[in-house]
Amino acid sequence: MAEWQKSGWRAKPRVQMPDYTDEDALKAVEAQLASYPPLVFAGEARRLKEQLGAAARGEAFLLQGGDCAESFSQFSADQIRDTFKVMLQMAMVLTYGAKVPVVKVGRMAGQFAKPRSAPTEVIDGVELPSYRGDIINELDFTSSSRIPDPRKMLQAYTQAAATLNLLRAFSTGGYADVEQVHSWTLGFTEGEKAAKYRDMANRISDTLDFMSAAGVNSSTSHSLRTVDFYTSHEGLLLEYEEALTRLDSTSDKWLAGSGHMIWIGDRTRQPDGAHVEFCRGVQNPIGLKCGPTTTAEDLKVLMAKLNPENEAGRLTLIARFGAGSVGEHLPRLVKAVQEEGANVLWTCDPMHGNTIKSATGYKTRPFESVLREVREFFGVHKAEGTVPGGVHFEMTGQDVTECTGGVRAVTEENLSDRYHTACDPRLNASQSLELAFLVAEELSALRQTRLAQAV
Ligand code: PEP
Ligand code: CO
Repeated sequence: MAEWQKSGWRAKPRVQMPDYTDEDALKAVEAQLASYPPLVFAGEARRLKEQLGAAARGEAFLLQGGDCAESFSQFSADQIRDTFKVMLQMAMVLTYGAKVPVVKVGRMAGQFAKPRSAPTEVIDGVELPSYRGDIINELDFTSSSRIPDPRKMLQAYTQAAATLNLLRAFSTGGYADVEQVHSWTLGFTEGEKAAKYRDMANRISDTLDFMSAAGVNSSTSHSLRTVDFYTSHEGLLLEYEEALTRLDSTSDKWLAGSGHMIWIGDRTRQPDGAHVEFCRGVQNPIGLKCGPTTTAEDLKVLMAKLNPENEAGRLTLIARFGAGSVGEHLPRLVKAVQEEGANVLWTCDPMHGNTIKSATGYKTRPFESVLREVREFFGVHKAEGTVPGGVHFEMTGQDVTECTGGVRAVTEENLSDRYHTACDPRLNASQSLELAFLVAEELSALRQTRLAQAV
């Protein structure tokens, strides 16, 4: 394959990227970003890759989650803390169900650029370019807001750096203590409607009490006091990605310094396109969204391009077909992987195939469909004898009303109460944790089946 260069994507067809009108401003921003420090270190990306490799073998489980689109106006310490907190709660519940370590990866500190289904948006007869995320243009529906401005990349970099700084502080500074995380989770199960999850929460309490009695608790064990937390985003805005790409002197390989893991979206996975070209040359773990239109042939070509050495943990296939459609699409892709003998991690994104417009006009996702897609994903892997290695959610720690359903039932009428997303509807804190309990049940059942088969 041709020698890779970080600017090589520029010669390939590109989609879903803005046409910047001010060339000089763009060049100045790229030069400035290129002079800034990377946000992540290559050793961290390699460590994540090892952990994802373990998840592909069923020896770990990936929890990837966060905003659909991070926003400049909703940026605050509380917002970061709450999402981090819910992810830790979810991870604890999943660890209990799966009995393997949970690898925690935020859609955070860089998840700013959005692919859109239409290039323009029409409101009351007025047509304007679509909003493409705060790193590109603005959500307000005015013609000046929708002009792509390269300077927004600098603000995105600053926000990503500050977010990552706080995440690193939370991860090691005492906030992630297992006993504290568990006490938050117990709070959730106190509600009458969440009582059905109390049994599992109590079993986690018993386990922690037992460990503590045996001398293993957060004051004696570093690993019960701290967590590894990684960042990820869609590698969509390639000017930003290229400017933060650095040669790692330890491995002599390139690193996308914008985040630990980057993924290729369902709309930008053309095998000969710019996004695949960029991602193939960086050493980070790469995600690839697989949707209803992904063919087995395309997947084979993409696996060969993105993971030519068949390295463990390098490639995560993120299945997003929609509830009711997993059985139609996933088996053929699982077969393609098997035919190639490809080393991949399969995860399930039950969000992007389940977006509907509610009767009240809001874009939403029914909790039931989200859960159903996860179950179908587990079902296919069970039938194929392959590993369901993780989940990928759009969620927030805030008490928003964007997806319907859950134990604290959000109805279509409630959607207008606290609908804050800049893009797709997210699970709120309670829905996220509930989903973790339900996925933990699936994982636990799978483990029992496999143990029974092994004897
Ligand atoms: C996303 O993850 O926000 C997204 C746009 O997903 P997809 O590319 O799968 O539609
Ligand atoms: Co989204």
